[in-house]
Amino acid sequence: MWKNLIVLKAGCLLVGLVLFNSCKHEPFWNSQQNGGGTDICFETEILPDLVSGCGRSGCHNGGNSKDNLTTYAGLMSAQMINLEKPEESKIIEVLLKTKDSDRMPPPPDARWSDAKIQKLLRWIEQGAKNTTNCAASCDSSVFTFTKVKSITDQYCLGCHSGSTPGGGINLSTYAGVKAIADNGQLVGAVRHQSGFEAMPPSGSPLSECNIRVIEKWINSGASNN
Ligand code: HEC
Repeated sequence: MWKNLIVLKAGCLLVGLVLFNSCKHEPFWNSQQNGGGTDICFETEILPDLVSGCGRSGCHNGGNSKDNLTTYAGLMSAQMINLEKPEESKIIEVLLKTKDSDRMPPPPDARWSDAKIQKLLRWIEQGAKNTTNCAASCDSSVFTFTKVKSITDQYCLGCHSGSTPGGGINLSTYAGVKAIADNGQLVGAVRHQSGFEAMPPSGSPLSECNIRVIEKWINSGASNN
């Protein structure tokens, strides 16, 4: 079995591919040479993926002996990042694995999309810097559902979707978000009000601007706009 996989992998590598399960993909690593493009922000672009993709309760959230992947310090001390050879970083390797018993995150979580893995790889190529307070693109004068959804997709969806969403709350649809908007849980959770679980449960809280967008949307009727 392993021998077969290795042969298969070598075959793919020969034609310049790394995703060894499917030779028809575009080359994985060559799309962005040397981390090209603008700097990726750790706090807003990488950490939310790690928190929702690796930091569920019982996983890499610091609540057990496993590596804590919900803080920059934890990620660095887990020795999963290889700055010399970014594509050989342990974290990239386990994300790329396709066999259910090997991959992270394990089932029932979905395998990360190539785009998400590529973004992480580019961040490592750029030096895996702890970038915070990145020039926020948030403008709270726009408070449509589309805007709210972009925030919940980025910071919440990884845990609140799929077959076992956190707390039984599925935030992949308007109806799902609207339900917790109407019953006060949404603001309670992101404002860390007493009586509510603080959300996201680890990593950074939402920015004040993002919370204002959510509140203004709710106060204006929480419509599907
Ligand atoms: C790392 C996984 C994870 C992320 C990320 C996450 N949640 Fe949760 N959420 C949970 C789990 C699990 C629960 C169930 C309660 C518990 O066990 O803490 C929950 C519960 C909730 C609740 C119910 C809280 C209460 O006390 O009534 C709300 C509302 C909620 N989440 C909203 C959000 C929003 C909004 C975001 C994004 C800003 C978010 N969550 C991000 C895992 C997550």
